[in-house]
Formats: sequence, C-alpha cells, structure tokens
Amino acid sequence: MAYKDKLLILGAGGHGRAAAYVAANMKRWRQIAFLNDSETQDKKDFRIIGRFNEVHHYKDEYDMFVAIGDNEIREKLLLQLEVENASIPVLIHPSALIGENVKLGAGSIVMAGAVIICNSTIGKGVIINTSSSVDHDNMIGDFAHISPGVHMAGEVKIGDDTWICIGATVINRITITDHCIIGAGAVVINNITEKGTYVGVPARKIKS
Ligand SMILES: CC(C)(COP(=O)(O)OP(=O)(O)OC[C@H]1O[C@@H](n2cnc3c(N)ncnc32)[C@H](O)[C@@H]1OP(=O)(O)O)[C@@H](O)C(=O)NCCC(=O)NCCS
Repeated sequence: MAYKDKLLILGAGGHGRAAAYVAANMKRWRQIAFLNDSETQDKKDFRIIGRFNEVHHYKDEYDMFVAIGDNEIREKLLLQLEVENASIPVLIHPSALIGENVKLGAGSIVMAGAVIICNSTIGKGVIINTSSSVDHDNMIGDFAHISPGVHMAGEVKIGDDTWICIGATVINRITITDHCIIGAGAVVINNITEKGTYVGVPARKIKS
C-alpha cells in the first residue's frame, strides 16, 4: 500500500505524543495530526482534528496510526482501521537498530534507542519502547508492549496483548503466554503458561 504524505495519530496522550516524535524524526510526512476522544487534552500544542469515530472521514487523505498505551484499546482501534482498509504504517525512530530478517506488523512502533537483533517476528500493533532490546529469534505477538529498558534474550516468545513492564528481563528460550503483565524490574526465568500478573526476581504470579 502506498504511503500518503499526511499522518493521523489516534490518541494524543503521552504515547500519542511520543509516536508523533518518532514520526516527525522519520521525515516521511509533511503533516502530523491527531484524533482524540478525551476532552481533557490540551489542544494548544497539538493538531487534534477530530474524534476516533471520524476515521472514515480521513482515511483516504491520511496514513493512520493508533498510539494508545492500553493494549486492548489499541487492538480495538487498529482492528477498526483494518476494517476501514486504512493505510497503516510502521513507525521506527531513526536511532533504533533493526537487524536482518526482522518482520514488523502494521501499526507497530519502535521507539528511540531500541534494538532488535535479527530473525525476529513482531506482530501488529506492537510497542517496542525506548531503549529496550529484543535479541535474536524472538516472536512477539500482536498488541504486545515491550516497555522502556526491557531486555529480552534470544528465542523468547511473547503472547498477544502481553505487557512487559519497564526494566523487566526475560532470559533466553522463555515463552510467556497471551494477556500477561510482567511487572517492572521482574526477571522471568520460567515459562509462563497461565494468564496473569507476575512480579519479582524470579517472577512469580500475584494476580490471575
Ligand atoms: C505490575 C503492575 C502493572 C501491577 O500493578 P497492580 O496490578 O495495580 O498491582 P498492585 O499495585 O495492586 O500490587 C500488588 C502487589 O504486588 C506488588 N508489586 C506490584 N508491582 C510490583 C513490581 N513491579 N515488583 C515487585 N512487586 C510489585 C505490590 O507491592 C503489591 O504487594 P503487596 O500486596 O504485598 O502490597 C505494576 O506494579 C507495575 O510494575 N507497573 C509498571 C508500569 C510500567 O512499566 N509503565 C511504563 C509504561 S511505558
């Protein structure tokens, strides 16, 4: 699908503004604007031109990117963009390092200073956040979030909608199932096969 020269970001919160920063640094779009549903956003600094239910109105003119931190909301909105047949780019900050044979699904973002080594498959709508590292042969499911400063060793598999929180570490050959939360600073040394929240060193389940 050919890219357009304008980008519309769904979400003008913290992650939306971070995504706009990445997009501006890519220097591909001559205009970046936002859709947002919250009335509380300060509209002075950002070009908020409509609400989420106005995608249909803008999709022929703009590339569209969902920048919502919550995995489930991001999933819902990205699936709506797919139904609308919108043009959905991948955002990669120029300072990110992406190795050979790395595949990134539509609507994913790789933030400043992140590193993806090689032979890794990243699903759609995934956030690879600031200064995180994803080593060789990883598989990251759709709508996952790899937070700032996370380190994932080789041959790690992360399920759909799973959130690895800031500064966590996942050792090599670990599989973490769908819809999990791995707490800040946790170290995952065993496979996680049940949905839930896991924290600590080594990571242990605290919530289902
Ligand atoms: C994992 C997390 C999401 C859990 O949040 P929560 O479900 O609201 O959990 P609670 O705050 O109710 O904590 C439950 C218990 O787990 C402990 N706990 C929570 N997070 C922990 C962590 N990261 N490490 C160790 N213990 C943790 C709490 O101290 C509490 O213990 P207690 O019952 O003995 O008092 C959250 O604590 C966390 O780590 N957030 C990081 C968010 C992040 O990465 N943001 C960056 C986005 S870019």
